[in-house]
Order: sequence, then C-alpha cells, then structure tokens
Amino acid sequence: MKLHVLLSSGAVALAQQVYLPVDGPASLLQCSRNGSYATAIPAHSFREFSFTQTETIRTATSRPAPTTTTTFAPNYSRLSSLVPNLTTTQWGNWDPASNATPTDAGVPYGNASWTALWTAIPWVNFTRGLYSTTVEPTPVPTSELVLPPPEPFGPETCYTFPKDFLLGVAASAVQIEGAVADEGRTPVHMDALSLFSPGRTDNFVANEHYYLYKQDIERIASMGIRYYRFSIPWSRILPFVLPGTPVNQQGLSHYDDLINLVLESGMLPAIVLHHTDTPIEFYPNVSSIIIEPDTGGIGYTDSGYHLSYENVSFEDAFVNYGKIVMAHFADRVPIWWTFNEPLLGARNGHSIDAVIKAHARLYHFYKSDIKGTGKISLTLNDNFGVPRDPSNDSDVDAATHFNAFQLATFGNPIFLGQDYPDAFKDSVSDHVPLTAEDLSYINGTADFFSIQPYTATVVSPPPTDTIADCAANISHPLRPYCVTQSTTTTTGWNIGYASQSYVYTTPTHFRTYLNYLYNTFRAPVAVTEFGFPVFAEDAKKQADREFDSPRSVYYQAYLSEGLKALWEDGVDWIGVFAWSWADNWEFGDYAQGFGLQTVNRTTMVRRYKKSFFEYVDFVEGRRQK
Ligand SMILES: *[C@@H]1O[C@H](CO)[C@@H](O)[C@H](O)[C@H]1NC(C)=O
Ligand SMILES: *[C@@H]1O[C@H](CO)[C@@H](O)[C@H](O)[C@H]1NC(C)=O
Ligand SMILES: *[C@@H]1O[C@H](CO)[C@@H](O)[C@H](O)[C@H]1NC(C)=O
Ligand SMILES: *[C@@H]1O[C@H](CO)[C@@H](O)[C@H](O)[C@H]1NC(C)=O
Ligand SMILES: *[C@@H]1O[C@H](CO)[C@@H](O)[C@H](O)[C@H]1NC(C)=O
Ligand SMILES: *[C@@H]1O[C@H](CO)[C@@H](O)[C@H](O)[C@H]1NC(C)=O
Ligand SMILES: *[C@@H]1O[C@H](CO)[C@@H](O)[C@H](O)[C@H]1NC(C)=O
Ligand SMILES: *[C@@H]1O[C@H](CO)[C@@H](O)[C@H](O)[C@H]1NC(C)=O
Ligand SMILES: *[C@@H]1O[C@H](CO)[C@@H](O)[C@H](O)[C@H]1NC(C)=O
Ligand SMILES: *[C@@H]1O[C@H](CO)[C@@H](O)[C@H](O)[C@H]1NC(C)=O
Ligand SMILES: *[C@@H]1O[C@H](CO)[C@@H](O)[C@H](O)[C@H]1NC(C)=O
Repeated sequence: MKLHVLLSSGAVALAQQVYLPVDGPASLLQCSRNGSYATAIPAHSFREFSFTQTETIRTATSRPAPTTTTTFAPNYSRLSSLVPNLTTTQWGNWDPASNATPTDAGVPYGNASWTALWTAIPWVNFTRGLYSTTVEPTPVPTSELVLPPPEPFGPETCYTFPKDFLLGVAASAVQIEGAVADEGRTPVHMDALSLFSPGRTDNFVANEHYYLYKQDIERIASMGIRYYRFSIPWSRILPFVLPGTPVNQQGLSHYDDLINLVLESGMLPAIVLHHTDTPIEFYPNVSSIIIEPDTGGIGYTDSGYHLSYENVSFEDAFVNYGKIVMAHFADRVPIWWTFNEPLLGARNGHSIDAVIKAHARLYHFYKSDIKGTGKISLTLNDNFGVPRDPSNDSDVDAATHFNAFQLATFGNPIFLGQDYPDAFKDSVSDHVPLTAEDLSYINGTADFFSIQPYTATVVSPPPTDTIADCAANISHPLRPYCVTQSTTTTTGWNIGYASQSYVYTTPTHFRTYLNYLYNTFRAPVAVTEFGFPVFAEDAKKQADREFDSPRSVYYQAYLSEGLKALWEDGVDWIGVFAWSWADNWEFGDYAQGFGLQTVNRTTMVRRYKKSFFEYVDFVEGRRQK
C-alpha cells in the first residue's frame, strides 16, 4: 500500500513536465537566439565545382586485448563438494531418420531411456541443420569491418559512459542454438511450439549456433562488444532433469569451451539459467502449455514453474540444476541471471512463488556457499506503461497498476523486502503469501535491476468497468493487467515509430522509465535486452537489409536518452545488452528480425548490419578513458 502511494506521487510529479505549449515552431534550444546566425545575412559566392567529398573509411574498433585471468569464484575442483555425487555420461544425438535403436531398454538413464524422451513427442517436420559438428572459426575479413555511412543526424549532447559501463549483446539458446536433439539435449517446451500453438512453426535448427558458436563469437568480438549474454538449456546439462540424475558431459564441455572462447576473444560471459526452455517432462500434457485467456492465467505460455515432475517441484529441481552450472562456471562468469521474463511464463500465483524462491536460493548459494564476487539478478519484462493523459489521475493509476503488476510483484520482495503489490494480490487469487521469514530471506537477493525496455505502451482504465472489477473476474478480457493499452496518446499521434511488431521507438519514455525503476526499486539498472524489428526487413534484398537505419536510430536515441538519465537525473544506469546479435527464431517465425546481423536461412551465413557498428560506436566513442 505504501509503495502504491509512493508510485502514484512519483508518476504525478513526472507528469507535470509533459505539456509544454508552443506557439508556432519549436525553437532551437541548443542555438543562441542572438548568436551571429540569428540575424546575419548569408554571403553568396561562386567557386569551381568538383566532386571532392571525402568518405570516412576506417575499420571498426579492433577487438580488446584478451581478458586477464580475473576470477569470480574458486574453480570447479574446489567447489565440487557443493554439488556432491555428480555422475557424468553422454548420450549423443537422436536422429529420427536413422534406423539405429538403443539396445539398453530398461537401464535407468541409458540410451534407450534418453531416446524415449524424444520419441514420446509427436514431432511435426522434425529437421536437422546443415552442421553436425563444431565449425572452426576464421577471422572476419577487413572488408566486412569497413564502417557504414553514418546516420545524417545524431545526438547533440556531450555526455560520456563510465569506464565500466556494460556493453553487451544477448540471445537465448532456444532461439539460436538448433541441434536440439544433439549432444544429449532432451526436449524443452518451446521445441513443441506447433503442438500447443497450432499455426506457429517449430525451431529445430534456429541459427545453428550450437555448432557455429566459434565463428559467432569471433564476429561479435571483432565488433568490440565486451559482454556476451547467453542462456544454457537445463535439458542439455541434465537430460533427465532431476537431482541425482547424470550430468551430460558433452553439454558441460560445450559451455566450458564456449566460455573459454568468449574470454580468449576479449569478452566476458554473462549467463541466463532459464530462458524459455523448461524440460518437457514437467508437463503432464503438451497441448496444455498455452495459457488460455479466461482461465485467470498470468502469462502466455506456461514455463511450468508451478509444476512438479516425479514429485520434485520445479523450484527444487531448478535450484539443483542452477547449482551444478554455477559450481562449474562461476570462476569465469561475472554476471548471472536466474530467470528471463518469468512473468510471461507464469500460469498462477504458485508460479511466481516458485520463481522468487528459486531465485533467492540460488542467490544465497552463490554468495554464501560459492562466495562468488560476480553479480546476480533476474530479468523482468514490462513495456513501460505511461498514462494516456498524464494529468488524469485515473490514467496515472492505471499505468501504476500496469507497471506494478509486472515489476513490483518480483521487485517488492527481491529489492525492498516488501510484500507483493496490491495490483498482483487483488488479481491473482492463488498468490502464495510471503511470510516475514520469506521476506527477510528474499530481500536484497539481486545486485542490480534488469529490465527489457523495448518500448512503451499507452495505458488507461478499462473502458466500461474498473480495474478492481477486472481483477476480481477471471474471464475479463483485459486480464491480466486490467487496463486498456493503446499506441496513441491524447494528441492522436502514435507514441513512436512503429516496427514490424509490438515495438515502437520511444526513447524519451525510456529515460522516464530508467527514472521510475531506479527510484522505485533503489538499485542500479541494466538494460538486458532492447532492440527493434524493422518493418518488412526480411523481405528486402540482402544489401538493403544490412542498411538498417531505423534500428540505428532506435539504439542511438535510447542510448542518448539513457545518458540524460545518467547525467541529468542521477540514475545509476550500468549497462546495455542489445537483442540480438543476429536475427533469430522469434517463437514461431523469422520475419521479425531483431538482429544486429542478418542470417541467410539457407546458408546460415551472417552479415553485419549497419546498426551493429553504430550501437558499438555510440558507447565506445563516448566511453571515458
Ligand atoms: C543573448 O541573449 C541572452 C538571453 O536570451 C542574454 O542574456 C544575453 O545577454 C544576450 N547576449 C548578447 C551578446 O546580446
Ligand atoms: C583450481 O584451482 C586450484 C587452486 O587455485 C588450482 O590448484 C587447480 O589447478 C585449479 N584446477 C583447475 C582444473 O583449473
Ligand atoms: C553422496 O554419497 C555419499 C557416499 O555414497 C553419501 O554418504 C552422501 O549422502 C551422498 N550425498 C548426497 C547429497 O546424495
Ligand atoms: C550411449 O551410446 C553411446 C554410443 O554407443 C555411448 O558412448 C554412451 O556411453 C551411451 N550412453 C549411455 C548413458 O549408456
Ligand atoms: C510441416 O511442413 C508442411 C509442408 O512444408 C507445412 O505445410 C506445415 O505447415 C509444416 N508444419 C509445421 C508445424 O511446421
Ligand atoms: C491435453 O490438453 C488438451 C488441451 O488442454 C485437452 O484437450 C486434452 O484432452 C488433454 N489430454 C489429456 C490426455 O489430458
Ligand atoms: C508422488 O506422490 C504421490 C503421493 O504421495 C504418490 O502416490 C506417488 O507414487 C508419487 N510418485 C512418484 C513418481 O514418486
Ligand atoms: C480521465 O480518464 C478517464 C479514463 O480514461 C475518463 O473516463 C475521464 O473522463 C478522464 N477525466 C478527465 C477529467 O478528463
Ligand atoms: C531489506 O534490506 C535492506 C538492505 O539490507 C534494508 O535496508 C531494508 O530495511 C530491508 N527491508 C526490510 C523490509 O526489511
Ligand atoms: C466477467 O467478465 C465477463 C467477460 O467480460 C463478463 O461476461 C461477466 O459478466 C463478468 N462477470 C462479472 C461478475 O462481472
Ligand atoms: C542466401 O544465400 C544464397 C546462396 O548464396 C543466395 O542465393 C540467396 O539469395 C541468399 N538469400 C537471401 C535472402 O539473400
């Protein structure tokens, strides 16, 4: 309740800045009204004409020197006692086109049991990719590193980024790896997308990053990126999911090698433990993974957080998996996220409870048992809700409700040691109450706030009834957030420039958002994903796809507004991770390219887009020495 009041008054205070009546065209604030150009008369003169424009040609910032041997925790040989009695083995690949059948039926965790996890699902159009073994990298040719022509206009401020500002790129395993049935991995819920969401197409191949990771890391490092954010599929580490089951040696070796390569390339690895890839064994019924409207559900696709498998809760099983990964890699990994956008995979109140408690347990394991010196967080989603009319209290309350539901549900306990917000408790009748003991255990279990502020959305109350009516009615069409969302403000204009999908370019709202987050949750803020799917980009010719000005403008505008939050508003903004380093599988299609590189879907060849250079150069060109 207290928080609610705090948020409302904060939002009202910000709202007062909104209306600036202007008579005629806006003045050029940065130019002196009485400078010489304000009154001088241009002097004309003839001269001999020639084509003598100069082009700037320089190669992109070369890769930084390999990271020194800084470690963030003891190595596995010294942490192995924290995850006792691990056995490792391997299972290899499942290929439905092959006639080979395992002969060890009945052996627990044997090849036949492993294969049965694949044959149990009625896959449609199961395909393998071009590659079945790791491809050795080649240096990126200089010809690919020539800078593109700059955007004609850029930000005018002279603000800088601090030395340690995180500049990263992100992607998730299920959207880039492919090789889904290779090297011991077992199915995850998103592999079966077409089975629970008819009409959408599965991903068995994605970008084949599992075999092309060396080249991908080479390409990303060559651009001057400092942090490589990736996720590890639980089912590639523990194909049989549960505590006490054998660890997949091929999976461990793969990520071990990937992490070492990231370090050798001069970057630092940053790991997400769960990113939309729950082992399929948790689900009693694959067709019920979709969260139907009218059921009081919270997210869209059930990540199974509230489920159990063989009477082991998701929470316990996930913590076991997380400990195994952390114990193996904590020595070399400075940043960890337990969950990515958990709200969207939550079916009910028990889902949220499991996520928060699993997160807190892993945080304590990392800090107290591993004694890691890196940072831990979890990444939350919320397309920032801004009031339709900032001077209207109903609209402000609706926006506050919308943001609190998505953020304070996790943020109150984790960052403030406070109970869930009313926005969540009033809407989700089966929420699990947090005891004082829970809150003291959960309080402070994230080192920084992580947000994916792709865009903003315009919010007002439900049109015919109230937020409270909707919150109490599980079949209300506006659930779960119980507000009206639109893209237009009271001016009649769109909130920003539209993309291929839900993202509108909303940089000034991004600055407000950083203020909201920092002042509400009182922790440093990192942007762990942001990006822009240019409209119909995939329909263009290759060269035209590479020249992606709207994406460049998006990144430059957001970074520029973020700098204002940093320097003018006092916000502790610590870093950015672009989504994504290449176009990838966007849960059913490849049409919405969010990438900084194109991927030829036939050949898997990657090419830099112009925005990749401009994203890096914007930060590095302004970084303090
Ligand atoms: C220019 O205008 C500003 C106010 O707009 C004033 O303070 C300043 O004295 C003026 N300078 C000159 C040289 O007229
Ligand atoms: C782990 O760390 C210990 C102590 O620093 C060192 O002696 C050992 O060689 C390391 N083991 C590996 C596998 O790196
Ligand atoms: C590990 O194995 C040892 C010896 O078999 C046993 O005493 C111990 O309880 C086991 N620990 C766990 C956590 O299973
Ligand atoms: C599965 O079969 C492969 C190839 O024969 C073998 O290397 C591997 O050890 C087997 N895995 C298990 C768990 O039996
Ligand atoms: C499977 O392939 C057929 C033929 O290309 C296609 O029509 C169908 O949509 C595909 N189904 C899925 C789920 O991808
Ligand atoms: C699985 O779920 C679907 C959709 O909810 C339902 O139609 C079907 O009857 C369920 N099957 C079983 C075996 O429970
Ligand atoms: C799960 O627990 C129930 C109730 O205690 C029990 O009947 C069932 O056998 C257990 N299942 C497994 C796989 O352990
Ligand atoms: C405030 O907004 C609400 C809902 O959008 C609307 O019903 C109401 O008329 C507005 N009030 C004013 C004073 O504009
Ligand atoms: C949560 O932890 C912070 C930092 O230790 C502390 O200042 C705050 O009082 C705690 N909150 C509650 C509700 O205990
Ligand atoms: C709940 O919402 C549904 C769908 O809008 C509506 O038909 C129903 O009357 C509402 N129930 C209550 C109790 O308001
Ligand atoms: C993909 O590469 C192939 C082979 O180079 C080429 O023929 C095709 O046009 C490329 N596709 C696109 C969309 O550029």
